[in-house]
Amino acid sequence: MPERPGSQWWDWYQRRAPRVERALEGLLPASTERPQTIHRAMRHSVFPGGKRIRPGLALLGFETAGGKGAAGAQVGAAIELLHTFSLIHDDLPCMDDDDLRRGRPTCHAKFGEAIAVLAGDALQVLAFGALAGLSVPPPVRVRVLAEITNAVGTGGVIGGQVVDIESEDRRIRPATLRWIHAKKTGELLRASLVSGGLAGGADGRLLRRMQEFGVRFGLLFQIVDDLLDVVGTSHVLGRDPGRDQVNGKATYPSILGLDRTRKELQASVAACRDAVPAGRLALYYESLIEAVAGRLPEDWTDPLGIRVRRSPAPDAARGARNGTGRSGR
Ligand code: IPE
Ligand code: IPE
Ligand code: MG
Ligand code: MG
Ligand code: MG
Repeated sequence: MPERPGSQWWDWYQRRAPRVERALEGLLPASTERPQTIHRAMRHSVFPGGKRIRPGLALLGFETAGGKGAAGAQVGAAIELLHTFSLIHDDLPCMDDDDLRRGRPTCHAKFGEAIAVLAGDALQVLAFGALAGLSVPPPVRVRVLAEITNAVGTGGVIGGQVVDIESEDRRIRPATLRWIHAKKTGELLRASLVSGGLAGGADGRLLRRMQEFGVRFGLLFQIVDDLLDVVGTSHVLGRDPGRDQVNGKATYPSILGLDRTRKELQASVAACRDAVPAGRLALYYESLIEAVAGRLPEDWTDPLGIRVRRSPAPDAARGARNGTGRSGR
């Protein structure tokens, strides 16, 4: 039987997850601290959490750059808070109006709209406060803060969400759809890898490579997310599928149709594979691509060679870890 797609990625992250969870635990006020309601709401949305892809990317960037110490997990935890803020607001009745997230009631479904809005706000300021105390030299800290601020603002997540909402029930151009995806989802994923790299001391060349991978990976991520809403199961989604159609969302399937989306998915996976930064961690970038695309059912991922692939033979794996498994990069 083929192993779980991206199992090397999941195993790699699993070994690092406790550091991220500890950092999150340390940042969030106790649920007994006054005013308890909002602290309970924040914790409800952060724990146990989802796939933790963004902290994983931050740690991957950090380790690719040779970073040592706590800063990688600190960056990852702060970004996960920002991601969770964006999800709480994304689910609100005035946005996507979802009652389930990660297999549990959404923040507003459990705590009411007002507390959910405030919990999102609170997670956002908590994240920037955490980044202000990042254990890296001050000039690096400023660069990390700038990178993440831009990724969340109107040139990133928030701007993308604006156009996402404004595009409901409209036939937008594919270029506009790509723009929405790059901003609402891609920017924070890209910034996770790059800010991890910055915190780890990456040089300009490596950062450019990470930027490129991050941009391409961000698009893949949202194409898969759009597709899962059509072809996925509630088990994989953690909520009911079909919500995008109900909301009249502009998505890959709704704008391009399923056939063209399949081609774009293939091209997107290939583009990500081409942009993997060389080195002993290349294996985990590759595996991350498989982990994300592998969330789709087999008939979607078989043509990508994801479901059918087994783990590499021990020699191949050793070669990749030594940086000899890939050529030219
Ligand atoms: C969901 O992100 C929202 C998007 C940006 C597409 P994830 O799929 O990473 O959600 P979690 O964190 O695993 O729940
Ligand atoms: C979410 O996009 C993007 C952000 C949260 C910024 P979606 O609205 O497609 O995410 P899901 O499908 O609800 O997780
Ligand atoms: Mg949305
Ligand atoms: Mg949504
Ligand atoms: Mg979606």
